[in-house]
Parts: sequence; C-alpha cells; structure tokens
Amino acid sequence: MWRTLALASAFFPGLFILCIRLLRWAAPGWSLKDRILLSGRLVSTVQATMATVSGITVVLSCKNVVYDRHWLAVEYIWVLVPYMTYDIYVMYLCHWHRARNLEKKHSLASVWSFLLHERLMVTHHLFILIVLTPITQLNMQDTLLHKVNGILVLVTFFLCRILLFPFMYAAYARQVGIPLYLVPFRIPLHCNIANASLIAPQLYWFRLICRKAARLYGGSPA
Ligand SMILES: *[C@@H]1O[C@H](CO)[C@@H](O)[C@H](O)[C@H]1NC(C)=O
Repeated sequence: MWRTLALASAFFPGLFILCIRLLRWAAPGWSLKDRILLSGRLVSTVQATMATVSGITVVLSCKNVVYDRHWLAVEYIWVLVPYMTYDIYVMYLCHWHRARNLEKKHSLASVWSFLLHERLMVTHHLFILIVLTPITQLNMQDTLLHKVNGILVLVTFFLCRILLFPFMYAAYARQVGIPLYLVPFRIPLHCNIANASLIAPQLYWFRLICRKAARLYGGSPA
C-alpha cells in the first residue's frame, strides 16, 4: 500500500513534467498553456490504460464473483488516490492558464474562480469527457480522426460504463444460478441503491455524449 502510494505519487507528476519537457523539445512553437493541456491529457490516458488493464485482469482472474478478492482491485486504490489529487491540481493549472488574461497570478481568488467555474469539471467524469475529445482543441472537428474518436468514445463508454452494471448482475446470476431478473431481489437493497446511484450519472453523461455525437454527425456547424 505505502509503496504503491509513494510510487504513484511520484509517477503521475513526474510523467506530467516529463511530457511538458518533451513537448517543449518536440513542439517548440507551442505555448506553455497548450503543452500543459496536452501533457495533462497524456498522463490521464496513461492512467486510463492502467485502470482498464487492471480491470480486465481482475475480471479474467475472478472465479467466484461473490467472494473472490483480487489484490489489484484493492491495490489500485492507492494509485487512484494520488492520481485524483494530482489531477485536480492539473485541472486548476489548466483553468488558470485559460483564464490568464483575467487572473494575473495564483491567489485564493483564482482557486475560488476555478472551483466556481469548473464545479462540474471537478468531477472526474467530465474530465474524462474532455480528455477524450482533445482533438476539438486543435480545431480538427471535421477530420475523420475526430469522428472515429467520437464513435470510439460512444462505444467504449457504453460498454464500460453502462453495460458494466448488467454485466455485474449477470455475473451474480450465473454464480448463484438464478435467472437475471431475480438478481435485484436477491442482493441487499443497499447494493441496488448504490448501483442505481452509480449508473445514474453515467446515463446522464452518455446522453451528453450522444447529443454531442448527433451534432458531430448531423452536420450542424454548431
Ligand atoms: C452492485 O450490484 C452487484 C451485484 O450485481 C453487487 O455485487 C455490488 O456490490 C453492487 N454495487 C454496490 C456499490 O453496492
């Protein structure tokens, strides 16, 4: 636990700084703001990949969905904690750089403005949305790459964030040997409530992604 925590605490900020340095070397024409924005997203992509690989590993090595515990599922929390902390700071940096013409230096006021303006942003999901649409920033909305990326977002979000819940219920049904529709009545009520409150924001975000996709493929310039 402590070793993971220490490693991750050094890894994410270290990678962030490394990305900024490398970008300065690879794209000298870019402003510091653009380098910070892209580096933040690169580090988030690395984290997302690590989380996905861990998730798949856990699912694949799980035999009993009720009692099995995989060390990765527990240990990854100690990767997430430093990542979230780091991520909030980077979000603040990005906000500050975007609004720099208004706020000249870091202050309580600039932190407050970040929290006010980006109160939704402080939730991880919106950040993911923005991470997954980095191409928008480069004015490449019309490129094929952007459209392919949009479809990938839609499909992966649906598979990993929405279908995950029926998948869990189905895994339980298979484990216990009951039909799927009986699962909500067999598991404790608080599990149903917790699952419902977890899927609710995902459905909300999925609706937003669909709306964005409709705009993208509908051909409306807005
Ligand atoms: C969601 O439901 C599954 C059963 O399908 C249960 O194992 C899990 O604990 C629930 N999630 C939460 C957060 O309660």
